[in-house]
Amino acid sequence: MKRRTPAYINILIVLGLLLVVFYMFSQSSDFLTSKFFIGTALISIIVVFIQTAIGDLIENEKFKKLTDTEKATYVAEKKVPYFQYLWNGAFKSQSEKEEKDILIDHGFDGIMELDNQLPKWWLGLFYFGVAYCVLYISSYFLTDFAHPIKEYDQEYKEQIASVEEYMKTVPQATIETAKFSEDNVEEGRVIFETNCVTCHAAEGKGGIGPNLTDNFWINQPEKTLFKTIFYMVENGSTNNPTMQAWGKNGVLTGNDIEKVAAYVYHINQEKAPITQAQGGAAPQGTQPNWEKAAE
Ligand code: HEC
Repeated sequence: MKRRTPAYINILIVLGLLLVVFYMFSQSSDFLTSKFFIGTALISIIVVFIQTAIGDLIENEKFKKLTDTEKATYVAEKKVPYFQYLWNGAFKSQSEKEEKDILIDHGFDGIMELDNQLPKWWLGLFYFGVAYCVLYISSYFLTDFAHPIKEYDQEYKEQIASVEEYMKTVPQATIETAKFSEDNVEEGRVIFETNCVTCHAAEGKGGIGPNLTDNFWINQPEKTLFKTIFYMVENGSTNNPTMQAWGKNGVLTGNDIEKVAAYVYHINQEKAPITQAQGGAAPQGTQPNWEKAAE
């Protein structure tokens, strides 16, 4: 008759598995105080006790059927502490009689095969692996758990939210505070190439939108060139909605407008105009007398 695993070891194993599974799903240790976890743990412990009690009953019945000598060895074996019994078991080799019982009826080159029982720890790990696999695959397909794409989306949303939160605290340039700065030209070029080239063409030589390199301007809302550019990008054109209000529509922030305005100012003032002969669009509007001071 086989010796049974004591209840306290079964309880420890069950609690260990519960901890792993709960942690896996909640990804934090908060569950330790949740009623759901405590309830599941209590019910599991009660189930272990019931299983032990049923085991005891079966053991008693089997014990009654043993011969007296078998009873004596069983009682003697049971006195050995459980862990020592396990330790001894690890080194026990089969007696010749036992080997004969499990010898499989085939061999090769004189090598015979024994139908050994699989070790309990191995079987335990195997069944745990199978159960874990079923749990994992079903939660992968039926829930949001462990889905790389969904986790990525979630983290992406969180990051965007924190960037937005941060942007709210960053002071943004306004038409009053914006100034031309050489340092903004490069970043402004990138913003221009992403948002503006479709209409104003490469280097602002003009296409659907007017040539931005010459000194002819349809719109002249401000007294200085830099502020005029800032104003146009922030508010768009009242004559022609093709030029949208990039700032008012929330596409570009005040700081982005300051940068892209620096780039447009740079191609207009610090570079030679791209004339019609060089592939630029024909001048539109009139030639203003910009105030220099506030630039
Ligand atoms: C969908 C096409 C389109 C895009 C994209 C576009 N614009 Fe324009 N833009 C126009 C048109 C058309 C006008 C002329 C508006 C008018 O007639 O009043 C214009 C006018 C302007 C003006 C004033 C020019 C003038 O002579 O009055 C500036 C400055 C300007 N755009 C800058 C930009 C910048 C910077 C961007 C990128 C952030 C941009 N635009 C993107 C079509 C566009």
